[in-house]
Amino acid sequence: MKRKVLIVGIGAGNPEHVTVQAIAALNQADILFIPNKGDEKADLAQLRHAICERFTAADSGHRLVDFDVPERDRSHPAYEQGVADWHDAVQQVYERLLVEEFSEGETGVFLAWGEPALYDSMLRVFERIAAKGSFDLDYEVVPGISSVQALAAAHKIPLNRIGESILITTGRKLAEGFPANADSVVVMLDGQCAFKTVDPDTEIYWGAYLGTEDEILVSGRLGDVAQKIERLRREARDRKGWIMDTYLLRKPRKG
Ligand SMILES: C[S@@+](CC[C@H](N)C(=O)[O-])C[C@H]1O[C@@H](n2cnc3c(N)ncnc32)[C@H](O)[C@@H]1O
Repeated sequence: MKRKVLIVGIGAGNPEHVTVQAIAALNQADILFIPNKGDEKADLAQLRHAICERFTAADSGHRLVDFDVPERDRSHPAYEQGVADWHDAVQQVYERLLVEEFSEGETGVFLAWGEPALYDSMLRVFERIAAKGSFDLDYEVVPGISSVQALAAAHKIPLNRIGESILITTGRKLAEGFPANADSVVVMLDGQCAFKTVDPDTEIYWGAYLGTEDEILVSGRLGDVAQKIERLRREARDRKGWIMDTYLLRKPRKG
């Protein structure tokens, strides 16, 4: 049975991040798959639903299918193995959806947060499913506005300094040390405030809930603002039950 899948980046929180290409893809869907993840479940599922409602034609006749994405076992003693097990579990969920939800020739759209190519397991999982060859699967990817772009726009800053490079990494990696040879570093997936381990003369541009009405922005010298960010982060997470934040670090200028 032939199945077509479109993996569509929907932006990182502002419905107006949804591109014209993404809207066209949403309107091709026979099935719109809406992932639910972890703590942010209710709020972000609502936003994903609002995007589908706002950008699809009333008579487009699609079905909506909500599904839970398994969470990574953060207590797994070996990080790499923990991730591999988690990807297996996620793959099983997608394979089940391909089996149970599709009819011959249907197109299914999977909504991906931000930009699907950036710290998201969906493309890796579809690559694995396609490589197995058990499905007659044709899939395409529609890019989206990432939280990194939303961060730079909100702070009105370029990501790189003139002629310099940028590196995108995780809080976990940053906690091992500021990356060698990097001038500007974008940090995602940091639940531990790893910026506290960095030279206090580093500049930080921090953003939480970017693109949403709860957006919080702080910038300055780390030594001056790190504690404030930690406090704002804790208060916001207590208030909402979840937080998503991203930041750019710029090495202090020499001399
Ligand atoms: C699983 S990754 C997904 C990234 C996504 N594909 C993107 O393009 O932004 C989740 C991380 O993205 C960042 N993030 C996503 N949306 C965000 C937002 N609206 N505000 C701040 N950070 C966000 C956070 O660092 C969060 O931990």
